[in-house]
Amino acid sequence: MDDMNAERFRYTQDYLREVFGAEDEVAAAIRQRAEEAGLPPIAVTSDVGRFLTLLAQFSGARTAIEVGTLGGYSALHLCRGLDAGSRLITIERDPKAAETARENFSYARLHDRVRQEVGPALEVLPRLAEELGPDSVGLVFLDAEKTEYAAYWKHLRPLLVEGGILVADNVLGTRSWWIDEEALPARVAVDAFNRAIAADPDFDVAGVLIRQGMLLARRRPRQSSRVMDRLPD
Ligand code: DHB
Ligand code: MG
Repeated sequence: MDDMNAERFRYTQDYLREVFGAEDEVAAAIRQRAEEAGLPPIAVTSDVGRFLTLLAQFSGARTAIEVGTLGGYSALHLCRGLDAGSRLITIERDPKAAETARENFSYARLHDRVRQEVGPALEVLPRLAEELGPDSVGLVFLDAEKTEYAAYWKHLRPLLVEGGILVADNVLGTRSWWIDEEALPARVAVDAFNRAIAADPDFDVAGVLIRQGMLLARRRPRQSSRVMDRLPD
């Protein structure tokens, strides 16, 4: 390959969606209901939804937290990867979006797996942190206000168990900004967030070029026996 260009990037995204993004009836209906309710069409794409299901499976989480519910499309995919008996707590600031999500969870028969919190995440998270306590959460998905990611993480980091997984959406951009546009506030905030997680010695971290960029991180076990952590004799 010579070079990536806009056309090739678009083809690549379409290819991923076509090959890895088959959308079943329930997922398609949830996306459609969200759009009919007037929510912005910014839910993850179907291929990314399936990626979230896989990550939720990998996490083995008993409790997962999502920041930014919108119409419930990503929550559906997270729930699909969680074990029976596990739960998702999802936070949404906009009451209208939360109501649409509530109807969607009921339609998808997920109402007893999902607990919805309605309000600004920075008000909800301190309460949740108090309630759940340290080492209580196996999976965190950040997808709300991009300028607040670092603040969400400050509350959530202590909650994540050893081996627990952090996933953050839009770590390379949205429709309004991209990572190469230096001065924009969301870009500055997300760049700082990315660099902080990448430098955190307690986490293994990767940036993934999928849709608008995702960050994946996993809390290292305290007593690591991994080959890469062993010092040479
Ligand atoms: C946009 C995309 C997102 O994934 C999101 O969480 C917020 C906004 C956008 O492209 O505008
Ligand atoms: Mg997003």
